[in-house]
Amino acid sequence: MKKAIRGRCISYRDNPFTKPIDDCLRYEGDGLIVIEDGKITGFGPAHELLADLDEAVPVTRYEDALICPGFIDCHVHYPQTEIIGAFGRQLIDWLNNYTFIAEQKFADKEYASAAAEVFLKEILRAGTTTAAVFCTVHPGSVDAFFEQSERINMRNIAGKMLMDRHAPAALTDTAQSGYDETKRLIEKWHCNGRALYAVTPRFAPTSSEEQMEMTGAVWREHPGTYLQSHISENKQEIEWVQALFPDRKGYVDVYQHYGQLGPRAIYGHGVHFTEKDFHIFHETGTAIAHCPTSNLFLGSGLFSLEQAMQGSFPVRTGLATDLGGGTNFSQLVSMNEAYKIAQMGGFSLDAHKAFYLATRGAAAALYLEGIIGSIEPGYEADITVLDLKATPLIAHRIAYADSLEEQLFALMILGDDRVAKASYIAGELVYSRNTETREEQFYGF
Ligand code: GUN
Ligand code: ZN
Repeated sequence: MKKAIRGRCISYRDNPFTKPIDDCLRYEGDGLIVIEDGKITGFGPAHELLADLDEAVPVTRYEDALICPGFIDCHVHYPQTEIIGAFGRQLIDWLNNYTFIAEQKFADKEYASAAAEVFLKEILRAGTTTAAVFCTVHPGSVDAFFEQSERINMRNIAGKMLMDRHAPAALTDTAQSGYDETKRLIEKWHCNGRALYAVTPRFAPTSSEEQMEMTGAVWREHPGTYLQSHISENKQEIEWVQALFPDRKGYVDVYQHYGQLGPRAIYGHGVHFTEKDFHIFHETGTAIAHCPTSNLFLGSGLFSLEQAMQGSFPVRTGLATDLGGGTNFSQLVSMNEAYKIAQMGGFSLDAHKAFYLATRGAAAALYLEGIIGSIEPGYEADITVLDLKATPLIAHRIAYADSLEEQLFALMILGDDRVAKASYIAGELVYSRNTETREEQFYGF
């Protein structure tokens, strides 16, 4: 059915880290987005498009709001929702003390299904319409996730964790079983509706050399699939990788050696990347998921967004929550913390660049630019409506902001899940929040 959404709209058509903002921003003060069969078929000034629109087409109008492409979270762990905010030390202790305990429960498919539903509702509440998701080692955890995602037709990327060492026995597979289960899950889920599959080695320390070989092989054998993992997050982790793979020149070389870099490979973190590491990612078309709330929470370090986006070797980089290491599902909070991390490195991340990283930039990191992440005819209609009156303080601050840039910046510094007023998936409203009553509603679950 044809429908339309009307209001102030923003979207990006290019990368504001490398091009002047006027060449990148698409802004409509009173815009109309026309949607048919889940896709955007028209976008432009409302008065122009309404002239050609049949009066029977329903138009939903949003006041005191900004309509933008749905946020994209490039790296997140759905089974870790229940351990968000777990007090601990750094990465390795946190994994052993909380993560590996929680993930064992996902051997139970029903448990996994319930957790996947909670997770998807949380991301929709935050205005996120696509995520690249780590499941657990259990194939049932992937079925559970994609079955829930399918109910509301979301374009999500996910995969079964591959781990055959340095984890509890209940969380390990073998090189052969990991390969076989991955292959079966790819056949079942990749391009099934809007689902996309990611071959998902947890990180180099939890895979033997044999598993690393077979992981590269299964990815190579299924063109178009993704590969997601972790890299250079924590100093102790980096030393561990060097000790486990003494013949390799470094962490990046480990993944490169086993054929795990290239287009559609995306790695969380890269906090301790050298110029050479950025160079290899740049040359191979490998992407980074920048996870600010996680890097601060786990004390991992300060990622150089400036070097990643504007250095000699720019890398496709998207914003991510990395929850449960990350501490909030809202990409507005990720922007806020990304801004502060960049500030510590002497780089001031402006609002357009930050919003780009959570929309079109994130889509580019996932090689999905042209499909999601922008409001343009031909794109899938995954859309988020941001509430300029979400809280009394936001309403007050916005009243004193005299440009779009200032308003966006106030939203990313003061905002969180309360700012998401509506989330649309493939043109269907799946979540709404009433500004006055704060009442929330899900549709389709
Ligand atoms: N490195 C390996 N596994 C994980 C994980 O679950 N979370 C984070 N933040 N880093 C990891
Ligand atoms: Zn992670």
